Amino acid sequence: MLRSLACLPANVWKRNRVSILARVCSGVCMNRCKVGQYTYIGRNAILNGAVIGNYCSIAPGVQIGGMEHSYWWYSTSRRLSDQCVDDKTTTVGHDVWIGAGAVLRQGVTVGDGAIIGALSFVNKDVPENTVCFGIPAKVHCRRLPESIFHRLAASQYWGLSTRQARRLLREIEAECRISGAAKHDGAQRGWED
Ligand SMILES: CC(C)(COP(=O)(O)OP(=O)(O)OC[C@H]1O[C@@H](n2cnc3c(N)ncnc32)[C@H](O)[C@@H]1OP(=O)(O)O)[C@@H](O)C(=O)NCCC(=O)NCCS
Repeated sequence: MLRSLACLPANVWKRNRVSILARVCSGVCMNRCKVGQYTYIGRNAILNGAVIGNYCSIAPGVQIGGMEHSYWWYSTSRRLSDQCVDDKTTTVGHDVWIGAGAVLRQGVTVGDGAIIGALSFVNKDVPENTVCFGIPAKVHCRRLPESIFHRLAASQYWGLSTRQARRLLREIEAECRISGAAKHDGAQRGWED
């Protein structure tokens, strides 16, 4: 907790609402953001006008939000143009993993439990429980079987402490009888409900 606080200059904490339970690495720039508990933000990420849920993992070099310069007008320069757009909120749900170097355009929404691949360009909303990547990012597959994801979402584990959430996830895992092999061998693509 203290490590997280120590990494950021005081003015960053003033301009943003960051949970004291979040972990924010050095070199992160944030402006007008809200960051939920137990979320990790890797080095040199840049976040503008973003609302980030709980238990998210944001890799180094990710960029979320940021100005849309007025290419439709005579100048793209903020110094000359009043038409640059910097007012849309970018929303990232709970337990989302965003791979290194991904760019999320201002105003998109990423659903709970989604995964964004490294170096993706996300210019459209990303549905919950999906794996998306590419330029532009497209849905590659569902992350978990819908029935399991709905069970997880209904439990609202992301609102709990790590200890409670871990216990709950283990209980749900036992209930759903997911085998260890199925979880780790990349067989998600073949999930059937
Ligand atoms: C998105 C991701 C989770 C998918 O992992 P996976 O399910 O194991 O996917 P695979 O490696 O089996 O790849 C499946 C296909 O998608 C492609 N692919 C995977 N990730 C991609 C990405 N980020 N961009 C473009 N294509 C990608 C693969 O090349 C492969 O294509 P092919 O079938 O034509 O060979 C992973 O590729 C990724 O980007 N992880 C982020 C890693 C990272 O940034 N770590 C930083 C620390 S948090």
